[in-house]
Amino acid sequence: MVQSNEIQSKLDNSRIPSHVAIIMDGNGRWAKQRGLDRSVGHQHGVDTVHTITESAIALGVKYLTLYAFSTENWNRPAAEVAALMALILNSMEESLFMKNNVRLLIIGDVERLPEEVRGPVLKLVERTAGNTGLTEIIALSYSSKWELTEVVRKIAREAIEGKCNPEAITEQDLDNHLATAGIPDPELLIRTGGEQRLSNFLLWQCAYSELYFCDTYWPDFSHEDFCKAIFDYQQRERRFGKTSEQIQQTT
Ligand code: IPE
Ligand code: IPE
Ligand code: MG
Repeated sequence: MVQSNEIQSKLDNSRIPSHVAIIMDGNGRWAKQRGLDRSVGHQHGVDTVHTITESAIALGVKYLTLYAFSTENWNRPAAEVAALMALILNSMEESLFMKNNVRLLIIGDVERLPEEVRGPVLKLVERTAGNTGLTEIIALSYSSKWELTEVVRKIAREAIEGKCNPEAITEQDLDNHLATAGIPDPELLIRTGGEQRLSNFLLWQCAYSELYFCDTYWPDFSHEDFCKAIFDYQQRERRFGKTSEQIQQTT
């Protein structure tokens, strides 16, 4: 169980973001700082995934999307890719998902995953499909440009087959073809590890997300840090192009 903290008591429970996306960065530097192999950083990163999953459940977040492995990460040294694949496989314990009533979804080019990872992971997606608590979306072999290219391919095929009229394509049609179809856009995007970039993550879905960057390396990111990010989010005024006065009139 996650421990309650002072910052948590300051949160407005009626304004918890329903979808939080996280770029979990800094595992390698965390390990390097300690003279350890990068893979040890990734192992500790898995512990943080479990903590933040419980944290999201405790706070009432409905969707948690975690960037675990990007398309670009395939270009890392083979040994690190192999260590990450083994860790991804071993960290997805069915009992944990069941205990917490968590539904697992995967977004990304799963065809590129080794069969011994893809098979069990997709089976877990099936087994947890009936869970009604938090939806945890793991971005695995994912990049936004890959996803958007897939969307264009699907829509182009439909147009050729005469199933859609190009002139009538709407933003909603694009939404419906994304890997995240049916999932609301994240209100809050967090990146740990100090970098201030999106690294090809949810570019369409985060068009209007609030961005929160912190220096903490992912293995050190705590329930309290997560509460801090949500507190920061709650101090912001989301204007969606309107004026502050317009927003205040409607609230
Ligand atoms: C994030 O940590 C995890 C993955 C990208 C898989 P990094 O491995 O990128 O750690 P840093 O950024 O090198 O510290
Ligand atoms: C982004 O982190 C991908 C994940 C967290 C899985 P990276 O460490 O790969 O991103 P860059 O290379 O710093 O942009
Ligand atoms: Mg990194």
